[in-house]
Amino acid sequence: MKPIMFIMPGQEELGESLLAGGGFEKGVLELRNFPDGESYIRVLSDVADAQIIILCQLHQPNEKILPLLLFVGTLRDLGVHSIGLVAPYLAYMRQDKRFHEGEGVSAQYFARLLSQQFDWLLTVDPHLHRIHALNEVYSIPSTALSAVQPIAQWLSGQVNKPIIIGPDGESEQWATKVALAAGCPFEVLSKERFGDREVRVSVPHVADFLDHTPVLVDDIISTGHTMMQAAAHLRESGMRAPVCIGVHGIFAAGALAQMQAAGLQVVTTNSIADPSNQIDLAPLILEGLQQFLQ
Ligand code: R5P
Repeated sequence: MKPIMFIMPGQEELGESLLAGGGFEKGVLELRNFPDGESYIRVLSDVADAQIIILCQLHQPNEKILPLLLFVGTLRDLGVHSIGLVAPYLAYMRQDKRFHEGEGVSAQYFARLLSQQFDWLLTVDPHLHRIHALNEVYSIPSTALSAVQPIAQWLSGQVNKPIIIGPDGESEQWATKVALAAGCPFEVLSKERFGDREVRVSVPHVADFLDHTPVLVDDIISTGHTMMQAAAHLRESGMRAPVCIGVHGIFAAGALAQMQAAGLQVVTTNSIADPSNQIDLAPLILEGLQQFLQ
């Protein structure tokens, strides 16, 4: 029996690539809202005893999570064998500590919620910062794939003489891996703080790289401020306008347009469907899926 993959709304393109490459059966689902806004869910495929894969884009998660959980409940009632979640972008990873008194650690609560519902989880470059590995918060088998190779491949075909730039010290490990995979140099912007509001950012060894194309790489682009500030510093240092690569383009309202208006070329993976998608994660995800399927 082939595993059945259900594609939740918003991820049709990536979903079709996974279906074609993985040879899964396509799950058929009726998902709509009642007039009062509550979700109606009906599974139209025969799912009894099947291994189920749900592909769900979890950016702007609040509106997606309840239908997803109701869907999981329906599948369990219909007697499925197992249910795995492929969430190329894993939400709620950034509130990974109590920054201010009285706040919640949402990353933990969200992980608990998903761990109660799914049998396994596959994601790409979750925001692991103070949480070092998914299994610190997820109690189900969970795998974090890395987009380093697909990014490096894209770079080799598209960018002439790249130099990878980490926008800040935290990104050093990430920038190193992409640079190593792409066989190109890297630098990390160094930040010196002279008080609460005064920060000087410099590009070490800038003179050596004026003929290179700077490529800023980060895991998430949200407001775009991190990238825009880093790009401004590069320009002040005499470098060209950079290519900005984000694994996950979650783009707060207007962020992509603002970045483009600032003359930046913005490129993302298709973890979240967006016009800036140029890097395909389907082969990476298909390989990662093998470990969960019997
Ligand atoms: C931060 O922890 C992340 O790695 C990104 O640097 C951040 O989410 C980017 O956010 P924004 O686009 O809003 O500057």
